[in-house]
Amino acid sequence: MADLTAYGPWAVITGASSGIGRAFAGHCAAQGLNVVLAARSTSVLADLGRELSRAHGVEHRVVTVDLSDPGGAADLLAASADLDVGLLVSNAGGGRPGRFLDQDIPDLHRRLTLNTTTHFELAHAFGRRFAARGGGAMVLVSALGAIHGLPNMAHESAAKSYVRNLGEALHHELKPAGVKVTVMLPGNVDTPIIEKFGLDRTRLPIKPLPVATAVRQTVHALNAGRPTVVPDRRLRALSRLTPRGLSIKLNGRLLGEAAANLAGAVQG
Ligand SMILES: NC(=O)c1ccc[n+]([C@@H]2O[C@H](COP(=O)([O-])OP(=O)(O)OC[C@H]3O[C@@H](n4cnc5c(N)ncnc54)[C@H](OP(=O)(O)O)[C@@H]3O)[C@@H](O)[C@H]2O)c1
Repeated sequence: MADLTAYGPWAVITGASSGIGRAFAGHCAAQGLNVVLAARSTSVLADLGRELSRAHGVEHRVVTVDLSDPGGAADLLAASADLDVGLLVSNAGGGRPGRFLDQDIPDLHRRLTLNTTTHFELAHAFGRRFAARGGGAMVLVSALGAIHGLPNMAHESAAKSYVRNLGEALHHELKPAGVKVTVMLPGNVDTPIIEKFGLDRTRLPIKPLPVATAVRQTVHALNAGRPTVVPDRRLRALSRLTPRGLSIKLNGRLLGEAAANLAGAVQG
């Protein structure tokens, strides 16, 4: 199993109620790390926390927080201030496919907070805490879509590129302080986000990767000292071989169809 035991005794995981964050929480607990589980869905987090404590004998703390609120990251920091945290998984995120001009400014601001500000506030605060305690590790979850602009997801691809560059820079900057940083760039990990985005599974270029595999590959990359990781060998090859312009066009089209699927679901 990809080893995380060096980063205890506590791990903070945002977006722990679903998908990648939930799988990270399970992976941490299975290795004996106590877990802070943060997201909006209190009852889902509470059930997960009980399940992990029962299965692995670890402690857990549920933090209900909306990380698209300007004060969300500060609330999470306050709720974990008394714990000796050695690992941050800053993962919570999301968005909605659709045309930029069709979206409202207040909603775009909230999504910018969730997908950028929250990450930098957590990276800054935990970076200081880790440096002061002589070590720690961070996984910042960006997206493969951060490598270029994505039509029909312009806002999120821009926000995710912020996280990608922040984490890549911090990987080098924080190394002398004993703080490891790896940016995860998921592109087709099998989580509920596929349905939330209105994506049609039959139209995806390759079969989605099981989430536990994506987490394992990310932990390996963290331990190997890599600044970024794209889980899934097939996707790494595909993104290397596809010309940038073609990739923008194909992914933009897929997201346009997803937006139409979501609009159809609302009308139907
Ligand atoms: N799966 C992929 O292939 C893929 C591709 C590109 C990027 N990503 C990125 O990977 C990360 C995890 O996504 P996922 O695939 O695991 O999706 P997911 O299953 O939808 O999980 C998203 C998580 O983020 C939390 N979250 C969303 N909005 C939040 C808010 N305002 N405040 C607090 N928590 C919030 C959700 O919890 P609540 O709803 O309970 O708050 C949930 O736990 C995201 O940053 C996403 O952008 C994933």
